[in-house]
Amino acid sequence: MQRSRKVSQVSMFDSSAEISPDILPNNNVVNVASVPQRSPFRYPGGKTWLVPTIRHWLNSLHKKPTKFIEPFAGGGIISLTVAFEDLAKKVVMVELDEQVAAVWRTIFKGDVDWLIKEILDFDLNYESVEFIISQKTRKREQIAFQTILKNRIYHGGIMAHGSGMIKYGENGKGIASRWYPQTLARRIGEMKKIRDKLLFMKADGFEIIKNFINNENNAFYLDPPYTADGKKAGTRLYKYYEVDHDLLFSLCSKIKGNFLMTYDTSEKVVAMAKKHHFQVLPIAMKNTHHMKMTELLISKNLSWFR
Ligand SMILES: C[S@@+](CC[C@H](N)C(=O)[O-])C[C@H]1O[C@@H](n2cnc3c(N)ncnc32)[C@H](O)[C@@H]1O
Repeated sequence: MQRSRKVSQVSMFDSSAEISPDILPNNNVVNVASVPQRSPFRYPGGKTWLVPTIRHWLNSLHKKPTKFIEPFAGGGIISLTVAFEDLAKKVVMVELDEQVAAVWRTIFKGDVDWLIKEILDFDLNYESVEFIISQKTRKREQIAFQTILKNRIYHGGIMAHGSGMIKYGENGKGIASRWYPQTLARRIGEMKKIRDKLLFMKADGFEIIKNFINNENNAFYLDPPYTADGKKAGTRLYKYYEVDHDLLFSLCSKIKGNFLMTYDTSEKVVAMAKKHHFQVLPIAMKNTHHMKMTELLISKNLSWFR
């Protein structure tokens, strides 16, 4: 009974008709508590739940990728995992958002010790938060601190225009409910170890794909923003939420190496995959409200996914 349900689920999204019924989606939802949490962000659409799949995919390749490229990196859990676990020779992590980029640039190129100290010394209350966030600054490290602060105290970690501070939070702790300075400092401090391994670029992911498209030993993981109008519950999740998905699929079809994409489940996405003869599989996940849902895995070949 369970098995036949899964098979029909596959065929619903099977754009290539090449996926055999024994390549079934793993309907066991990953327990994210079993995955090392390495990112300083609580990121909307974060992919901690995908970490076991990414490990499995990269380990299935006949050669360790020369470069692992993540053109829409956001909270970066996938790139960080690949770098820490040495799943590729080099990692290139790309993000367009200026605030998010300031954090990654500070961590991988800037005065990371200043940032760590600022986090540890910060006395969090509404006044101190208002003071920090309202400061106009062009200094990368300061923008990084503002961004981390916003990310931890705004609803759902959403920093895009229209978002606001948590009012009650866990156990009525309000803005403090997600502020764990020691943990943040430790995670950021750990990243010093992978500075030589990971290159962060503030850039348009599309341009970076083109730069690395021709090397057959490169592997790309692509997680572009994709929800109806880029919104959930009336608030935009990201400042940069509009992406030319048709163009992205066309570019992926020209990638000489390997790629894996994740998308929200939608007929439109399946149709784009079909146009380029990509394979599609639904994968189970839980959203931030612990609701079981599926997202789509898309690639030229998903036969490694068993
Ligand atoms: C779905 S989120 C990625 C989440 C990420 N996988 C994680 O685990 O945190 C998509 C990200 O793409 C970024 N983005 C949107 N357009 C972009 C572009 N043209 N180039 C690079 N990044 C872009 C957004 O700012 C957002 O952070």
